[in-house]
Amino acid sequence: MAIFHLLLSWTAQAMMFLFFLIFIAFVGYCFYLKHIHMKYDHIPGPPRDNFFLGHSSSLLGAMKNDGLIHDKFLEWTEKYGPVYRINILHYVSLCISCPEATKEILMSPKYPKDKFVYKKLFNLFGQRFLGNGLVTAQDHKQWYKQRRIMDPAFSSLYLRGLMGTFNETAEKLMEKLTDIADSKREANMLHLVNCVTLDVITKVAFGVDLDLLKNSSPFPRAIETCLKGMMYYVRDLFFELKPKNKPFINEVKEACHLLRTTGARWINERKIAIKNGNDVPKDILTQIIKTADKEESMTKEDEEFMLDNFVTFFIAGQETTANQISFCIMELGRHPDILEKVKKEVDDVIGMKQDISYDNLGELTYLSQVLKETLRLYPTAPGTSREVSEDMVIDGIHVPGGFSGVFSSFVSGRLEKFFKDPLKFDPDRFHPDAAKPYYCYYPFALGPRSCLGQNFAQMEAKVVMAKLLQRFDFTLAPGENFDILDTGTLRPKSGVVCTIRHRNYKK
Ligand code: HEM
Repeated sequence: MAIFHLLLSWTAQAMMFLFFLIFIAFVGYCFYLKHIHMKYDHIPGPPRDNFFLGHSSSLLGAMKNDGLIHDKFLEWTEKYGPVYRINILHYVSLCISCPEATKEILMSPKYPKDKFVYKKLFNLFGQRFLGNGLVTAQDHKQWYKQRRIMDPAFSSLYLRGLMGTFNETAEKLMEKLTDIADSKREANMLHLVNCVTLDVITKVAFGVDLDLLKNSSPFPRAIETCLKGMMYYVRDLFFELKPKNKPFINEVKEACHLLRTTGARWINERKIAIKNGNDVPKDILTQIIKTADKEESMTKEDEEFMLDNFVTFFIAGQETTANQISFCIMELGRHPDILEKVKKEVDDVIGMKQDISYDNLGELTYLSQVLKETLRLYPTAPGTSREVSEDMVIDGIHVPGGFSGVFSSFVSGRLEKFFKDPLKFDPDRFHPDAAKPYYCYYPFALGPRSCLGQNFAQMEAKVVMAKLLQRFDFTLAPGENFDILDTGTLRPKSGVVCTIRHRNYKK
């Protein structure tokens, strides 16, 4: 009995001690948080919703009913100016639209990608996702090594060689649209274009033909699920704790697993081909295999690292381009005058020709302007962020180091001070003789961490658009809405449903 009492009192004492430690840690955290608040409170910003969670409920509120978080950023930029503060727990983000600071931070290699977002994307709900791949790598040396290895697969010489694949795959879309036009059905352009860009990336990057306009495949849904999961995982700190989200979380983990196991299979097949001395293309897959250190005796981590880049290219190399093309079709559908002008250019440059050449792409200057203007209003990868550890002065305000700088190309693209009448779709803003936007237009980010696939994406988008404009007339379905859906990347919510008719085109 005495031993029992003794044990009880020890347990009680241990519990009390534990509560005491938790209490001390909590009080310490409160002081720390207060200190962080005081350090940045001279910077303008919306009032915090809550001492601990800062602005998170305003931001989550903005996302309710499919709302756009970047609309909230825009509203706050208009109210608080080119640099304002957002707090979430002890993290301080400064949303920056000041061109000089954008230049200073994004163009320099010394500011790493921000931990809060990019470290989180190492995995999704516990399943490894983008890991230390090109988009998420934070360590400069590790990133630089990967980027140098990948560069040859994006050189202009190599990209010229991809014109055949771009043409062939876009031609499959034209066949599909021919069927749709003949049967007078409506076309969901976002879905169709997604199939094309996924076909292109799997063919060009990994040497695999999916032919998604004919065959069904689990990949489009898996990509969409990962992107949605990514958005909740990064933006909602408590998403995982809510039991009602469990089924969705499982779906996200399965989608991640599918992409990684597919990667493992395709990489293995390629490694066997290399080992057997077969002639293999110098494509992205071959370069990915080179990024792993020891080709002879690969460790589990080397294998995982290759899969990080496999998933990175599978996702980064497809969805953003499909969304850009769809937004472009949507805006042309709304602007018959611009549509006529770009069709005329296509007729003048490629006429009835089926194979578009690399040189033709350079001649389609108005189409380039249309695609650039599309990304101004609809930057499909709308933002990036960097960790800034040193003090700096932004727009005349002294800012202590230790914050993350958030850059939204959606916000900059829609500010009146940068673009007159910003909501007007006007490709002439990008006329070769017009003044170049000064660090306020960056749909592919800027500086060393800018998009590796920019030229690839714009070549692909031009080939698809040029063929579409050459062969078909399209009209947006009645009742089409022009809303944007935020799934981490931006896409047209309606799917851009169109009726399609043949133009007087003869092969
Ligand atoms: C319209 C299409 C595209 C847009 C708007 C776009 C936009 C972007 C943006 C904004 C970033 C910076 C991301 C960040 O800082 O978090 C980025 C990075 C990247 N993108 Fe793209 N992208 C597009 C197409 C592509 C394609 C087709 C590929 C590959 C074939 C690609 C591969 C990459 C890679 C590898 C990175 C990471 C670069 C690095 O940090 O070294 N992107 N892209």
